[in-house]
Amino acid sequence: MVRIFASILAADFRCLEREVRRAEEAGADGLHLDVMDGHFVPNITFGPMVVSAVRKLTSLYLDVHLMIEEPGRYIDRFVESGADGVTVHIEVCRNPAAEIEAIRSLHVEAGMSLNPETAVESVRPSLSRLDGVLVMSVQPGFGAQAFMPSALQKIRKVRAWIDEDGLDPQIMVVGGIHRDTAKLVREAGADVLGAGTALFGKAEMAKQIRILKGA
Ligand code: DX5
Repeated sequence: MVRIFASILAADFRCLEREVRRAEEAGADGLHLDVMDGHFVPNITFGPMVVSAVRKLTSLYLDVHLMIEEPGRYIDRFVESGADGVTVHIEVCRNPAAEIEAIRSLHVEAGMSLNPETAVESVRPSLSRLDGVLVMSVQPGFGAQAFMPSALQKIRKVRAWIDEDGLDPQIMVVGGIHRDTAKLVREAGADVLGAGTALFGKAEMAKQIRILKGA
């Protein structure tokens, strides 16, 4: 059964505590926290302060997605703030092995993310070191975008490499995940689905989570 992480980018930030509790009570397996710096992506969201606040609200797995330049400068701050997993983008990692080691040395899970235009082969050398691979199915920066089907072949390739080589990483997909696209990415081999609009934008979040799980 896949795990579902609720992306707080789509939450109502006027009442973040209520939204976090809603996700927890609805059965989310974790929260996906999109950190954006206005440089790597054309949007700015939040930093360690918000991660700390969310950490105080829940024991859910906090999956921090750094859509920022020079992520290595901030990894420790996000771990200190309570991240359980930190994902960096391969596009801004001059030395992926070093960035991954920097995360794992802090005893949290290390993820690497690929933008839609980035060749999936670029992450293959790192698979043996990673806890997660995040395949973006939208251009990073904004929620409520349309799912990009090109992500499916990338998921299938990473799934095949992991299975062939007996490796550990979980495959995560974020961007435009809803009832129909969730089925496609599950069938392609994804382990974790991140969803914002499909969850926070709807009533009955528990029902939506079950739908995304294919339950
Ligand atoms: C893209 C963001 C979004 C968000 C999920 O930068 O990462 O994909 O988490 O947004 P929805 O589920 O609304 O597409």
